[in-house]
Amino acid sequence: MMTQTDEKLIPHPPLKNFYQDETQRNEFVNRIFNDTASKYDPINSILSFGSGNWYRKQALLRSGLTTGMDILDVATGTGLVAESEIAIIGPKGSVMGLDRSYNMLAEVGKKLNIPLVQGDANGLPFSDNSFDFLTMGYALRHVDDLKETFKEYFRVLKPGGTLLILELMKPTNKIIYRMILLYFRLMTALISMPGVGGKNEGKLIQYYWETIDQFVGSDIIINSLSETGFAQAKSHQLFNFFTEFTAIKA
Ligand SMILES: C[S@@+](CC[C@H](N)C(=O)[O-])C[C@H]1O[C@@H](n2cnc3c(N)ncnc32)[C@H](O)[C@@H]1O
Repeated sequence: MMTQTDEKLIPHPPLKNFYQDETQRNEFVNRIFNDTASKYDPINSILSFGSGNWYRKQALLRSGLTTGMDILDVATGTGLVAESEIAIIGPKGSVMGLDRSYNMLAEVGKKLNIPLVQGDANGLPFSDNSFDFLTMGYALRHVDDLKETFKEYFRVLKPGGTLLILELMKPTNKIIYRMILLYFRLMTALISMPGVGGKNEGKLIQYYWETIDQFVGSDIIINSLSETGFAQAKSHQLFNFFTEFTAIKA
């Protein structure tokens, strides 16, 4: 599926089950995350069978996060990646959380004592060369423009700084693809049940699957990171699904 234009590199084509065209996408994304923020953590635990924290920590350590670093966690959501980062960096480091959704940031405020900013990955309100490490967990599929987002990540990282993007990529192995599709269908049914989640939460899981299914491939992401100026842009995968993209601002 071709999604690259001269100006923009959009993560996936418009998803007509949820909104009609690209101009309505941001509004839909803001609404779905604002509407589901209070149930995001329990849903996440169900989806990942409780293994999410362990995996996030391992991915952060694998990509070189260490004590004393200053981190920007973009699309922090309810702060799940930020929480794992705090445990690694110790008292000399710092984590700043940024998200477009006010309700998500309100959830972080209930759990973590970190500075929070409401903002967009496409236009970060920070000076050049501000952070040692920049993370984005499971949100690259939701940005407006991959090129603009990567330019911003490059700009705010210090020279030598590391970018880590966690994503769920469409499996290339057909058996794994079918298993994950089935899993998402079952989870949509389960999470739509009033006692577990609800209508909005079910819709969120359905939307997740469509964004995964329609997302640009790993090669496009890695090429775009390299074109932005990042060095050593690469990916690391588990089970042909859980993917870590890393790159260095040389
Ligand atoms: C699936 S949640 C991920 C939250 C968290 N990083 C995690 O790993 O659990 C996606 C988050 O991305 C945020 N988001 C989506 N597009 C964004 C953008 N362009 N800029 C900043 N935040 C964005 C949403 O508001 C939502 O909180």
